[in-house]
Amino acid sequence: MTRIKAPSEDALREASGLLRAGQLVALPTETVYGLGANALDGEAVARIFEAKGRPSFNPVIVHVPDVEAAQRYVMMDARAKAAAAAFWPGPLTLILPRREDCAVSELCSAGLPTLAVRVPAHPVALALLKESGLPVAAPSANISGRVSATTPQHVDEGLGDKVRLILAAGSCAVGLESTVLDLSGETPVVLRPGAITAEQIGDVLGCVVGYDFGDHGDKVKSPGQTLKHYAPCVAVRLNAVDVAPGEALLAFGSIKFMGIKGGGSAKDLPESALRNLSEAGDLNQAAANLFRMLRDLDRPEHAAIAVMNIPDQGLGIAINDRLKRAAAGSKRG
Ligand code: TXA
Ligand code: MG
Repeated sequence: MTRIKAPSEDALREASGLLRAGQLVALPTETVYGLGANALDGEAVARIFEAKGRPSFNPVIVHVPDVEAAQRYVMMDARAKAAAAAFWPGPLTLILPRREDCAVSELCSAGLPTLAVRVPAHPVALALLKESGLPVAAPSANISGRVSATTPQHVDEGLGDKVRLILAAGSCAVGLESTVLDLSGETPVVLRPGAITAEQIGDVLGCVVGYDFGDHGDKVKSPGQTLKHYAPCVAVRLNAVDVAPGEALLAFGSIKFMGIKGGGSAKDLPESALRNLSEAGDLNQAAANLFRMLRDLDRPEHAAIAVMNIPDQGLGIAINDRLKRAAAGSKRG
């Protein structure tokens, strides 16, 4: 059985089935190969981070077949519609506010109130999006920190059996990741340069569009660092072995022996003050739940969010990285 397959109707059907089952599929786009997962399934999206060995949760681009599909998940203002009309399908990613009823996993947004969406111009990518009927979360199909894969062989060499099926369609025409245009604020800004330039976008939007690579003079930061991540308003206390009065608990694994200081058991906390990332201690499930549960517990009546220890291995490294940022960014003391 070959894992690298030509995009026949059978292979597309198989790929859709794998996506629906929460598995990873590599797909060709006009820019680079993407490592795809069902964007509606948080555990499937967590598998992307696991496979790429990402040290932290960067937000990922969600691929959709057309503007109508995009509008199910994000709010598109006149600027977004104009940019989409001019450049979709094509190598332009739009950062837009998530809709209130957005069904895409919060892990795709890495806790941000925005979502990156793109309609790719590759016939195989479009065929898969239509066949599956799913929004597909797909970062570039390479191990974190390595160059993006532009051929099926590159994907295979980098990711091996972490990807269940590679839809092969030769090398990518553009070979460079899409332009990322942030339209979530008042001023449109290009966060990542690509085949579509800020000048071209400016012509369509009728304004000057600048670049912001997150390089603010002294020190070039990695893309993950420049993102304004969601930081809870309430303080976050890590590696908690018990719960202080007034605190909420973000648990991981069994809380049978977790106590409340001064008396009582954590399992008797009110529903609004208790979330468990994964009762079974499954890191994949924990990653899928992380941002939603942090948000659930971020309520002013809580003195802090006590977070149980999470093993620092595999996806746990990314979860702990995010939690450390949350602890540093939240109200101190
Ligand atoms: O060409 C491409 O864009 C390829 C193909 C597969 O579509 N995908 C790709 O994805 O390059 P990735 O995950 O490697 O890069 C996504 C970029 C990152 O720089 C990420 O930080 C940024 O988009 N991004 C995604 N969502 C964002 C958000 N909500 N806010 C700000 N930046 C975001
Ligand atoms: Mg990448």
